[in-house]
Amino acid sequence: MKTKTQLASALVFLFGLLMAFTWSDGVLAEEGDEAYAKGGAQDCMECHDTQPTTLVLHTPHAMAGDARTPFASQECESCHGPSSDHMRKVPGELIPPPPKVVFGQNSITPIEDQNEVCMSCHEGGLRINWTGSEHHSGDVACATCHTVHALKDPVLVKQSQDEVCYACHVEQKAQSFRRSRHPIKEGKVTCSDCHNPHGSFGPTLLKYSNVNETCYSCHTEKRGPFLWEHAPVRDDCTNCHTPHGSSQPRLLKIRTPYLCQQCHIEAFHPSTLYSGDDILPFGAGERILAKGCLNCHPKVHGSNHPGGVRLTR
Ligand code: HEC
Ligand code: HEC
Ligand code: HEC
Ligand code: HEC
Ligand code: HEC
Ligand code: HEC
Ligand code: HEC
Ligand code: HEC
Ligand code: HEC
Ligand code: HEC
Repeated sequence: MKTKTQLASALVFLFGLLMAFTWSDGVLAEEGDEAYAKGGAQDCMECHDTQPTTLVLHTPHAMAGDARTPFASQECESCHGPSSDHMRKVPGELIPPPPKVVFGQNSITPIEDQNEVCMSCHEGGLRINWTGSEHHSGDVACATCHTVHALKDPVLVKQSQDEVCYACHVEQKAQSFRRSRHPIKEGKVTCSDCHNPHGSFGPTLLKYSNVNETCYSCHTEKRGPFLWEHAPVRDDCTNCHTPHGSSQPRLLKIRTPYLCQQCHIEAFHPSTLYSGDDILPFGAGERILAKGCLNCHPKVHGSNHPGGVRLTR
């Protein structure tokens, strides 16, 4: 009889020891304590040993040999904060208290506090204009665009970046289905070719100081200078083009001749607005049919021909 009770109490003791080991690392912190887990990542992995959580181990963040990385110091808790409390079993509670920092757009941790963790290592560089930028003041978390627990963060991959942005920017998503567009779906151009989502010196989070500089970064032949310039081109490409998609060919905002006639109502050849009434044989058909004004003025971005003053060659 006696040995049976002894065995039972020994079992209870062992079970208690096991629980203590699982829910704490033995000499664990009291409630409210802000202590790091004694065993570092190993402690966390006791419970969090599944994907996607473990994928972080294969990313640059887990390069423990690089002194700048989270894994060179507090490992998981370099980002999630001192979380030994989280490993403490609260009697009667099924789930443990949350770790110090929980990431995500709808997390219990204020976005400002989450971003502070990331910025403690990533200030400067592309993020030199983060403070006060549209996404900063729009309360967007770093972790909303970035996925840390992934082999490759989707927002850093050309083929998948646009989908991350479209989650919020539905208007640009709609425009991406129009007939004329940049080859974004094909992964040849991506949002961050033109925008710096972390903030910029230019308007509209543009990567360069203005619209034209941004466009010239790829369409260098449009930079000129030309012998005969066309003023609206030098001024701003978006006088005629829209960047994200158009139902007109060549990303034009509206079709020619109406595009040109927004400004050239008084061209000395007929100074009237062209309309459907002008269809041949009675009217100025060649000015509105097919490519309209472009039939005779193809050098709309500027001309280097000595006789190209009217942008005709
Ligand atoms: C004893 C098991 C256990 C250990 C050890 C553990 N966790 Fe957890 N953790 C859990 C459970 C259970 C949940 C789920 C809670 C829930 O569903 O809200 C969780 C949830 C989380 C979450 C998500 C919180 C949320 O609200 O979405 C994070 C982040 C996290 N743990 C980080 C850590 C880190 C970092 C460590 C190491 C310091 C760690 N965990 C150690 C059991 C553990
Ligand atoms: C303890 C410092 C530290 C913290 C905290 C930290 N990072 Fe990093 N991060 C690094 C280092 C170091 C690298 C590697 C940089 C390199 O190789 O030049 C890196 C790389 C990255 C990269 C590039 C990854 C790649 O695949 O090229 C991204 C994106 C990133 N971090 C985002 C974040 C986000 C978001 C947070 C907050 C949730 C964060 N980091 C928190 C240090 C940190
Ligand atoms: C609106 C989406 C978005 C938000 C919010 C965002 N990022 Fe990024 N991040 C990107 C994109 C897109 C890239 C790729 C940029 C490129 O290739 O030019 C990137 C690249 C990075 C990189 C790798 C390139 C580098 O700078 O070395 C790091 C690190 C990074 N972001 C950190 C952060 C941090 C820290 C925050 C929060 C303060 C943050 N990001 C907020 C979209 C975002
Ligand atoms: C560079 C900062 C960073 C490091 C290091 C880090 N995490 Fe996370 N963790 C995050 C971010 C950001 C999220 C939000 C989801 C995401 O980005 O993948 C997250 C989400 C989580 C979640 C919620 C479920 C999930 O996977 O989305 C758990 C659990 C978690 N982390 C545990 C851990 C553990 C365990 C470690 C160490 C092995 C760790 N984290 C290391 C930043 C980090
Ligand atoms: C969580 C939602 C969210 C995600 C994801 C997001 N944005 Fe934003 N974005 C916003 C908010 C909020 C603003 C500021 C309010 C506004 O202007 O609509 C903003 C503003 C912008 C602006 C400036 C708009 C202006 O009128 O000046 C640009 C450009 C932009 N985002 C590009 C991006 C790109 C590129 C990505 C992906 C890398 C992205 N956003 C991902 C929410 C988001
Ligand atoms: C070819 C360059 C280019 C690319 C690629 C690009 N944008 Fe833009 N974006 C611009 C320009 C230029 C503006 C400013 C438009 C203006 O001033 O009329 C702009 C403006 C915006 C705005 C502000 C609202 C608006 O439409 O004026 C948002 C939001 C935006 N872009 C999001 C995105 C997202 C998301 C992606 C990727 C899917 C993206 N952009 C890709 C050049 C680009
Ligand atoms: C990252 C490089 C890049 C940047 C920056 C860029 N473009 Fe493009 N653009 C392309 C590529 C690639 C194509 C497709 C060329 C092709 O299909 O032959 C293209 C095509 C075009 C077209 C023709 C579209 C069609 O339907 O044929 C126009 C117009 C255009 N871009 C205008 C602009 C304007 C305006 C800007 C600045 C707001 C800009 N681009 C910035 C790379 C870029
Ligand atoms: C005055 C209106 C106007 C302005 C401003 C303008 N474009 Fe265009 N663009 C056009 C027209 C019209 C076409 C179509 C030409 C055709 O179909 O022959 C075109 C075609 C294009 C094309 C595709 C065909 C080609 O020539 O490569 C690109 C790329 C382009 N524009 C880039 C730009 C850039 C970059 C800027 C700013 C520096 C700009 N455009 C400013 C009217 C304009
Ligand atoms: C946003 C206004 C605007 C748009 C749109 C526009 N232009 Fe112009 N265009 C101008 C200005 C301003 C000049 C310079 C006039 C001057 O120097 O007297 C000019 C000059 C010209 C000239 C040379 C005339 C001269 O006297 O040297 C031609 C030809 C011309 N544009 C054709 C076109 C065509 C074709 C289109 C349509 C594809 C077009 N323009 C669209 C504003 C515009
Ligand atoms: C059939 C060919 C042709 C078509 C079509 C045409 N133009 Fe012209 N345009 C010319 C020629 C040729 C000149 C130069 C006349 C000269 O140098 O004396 C000219 C001159 C101009 C000028 C400069 C003179 C001025 O009045 O300032 C502008 C601006 C102009 N065209 C705009 C347009 C617009 C806008 C359209 C479309 C609505 C258009 N053109 C269609 C042939 C054409």
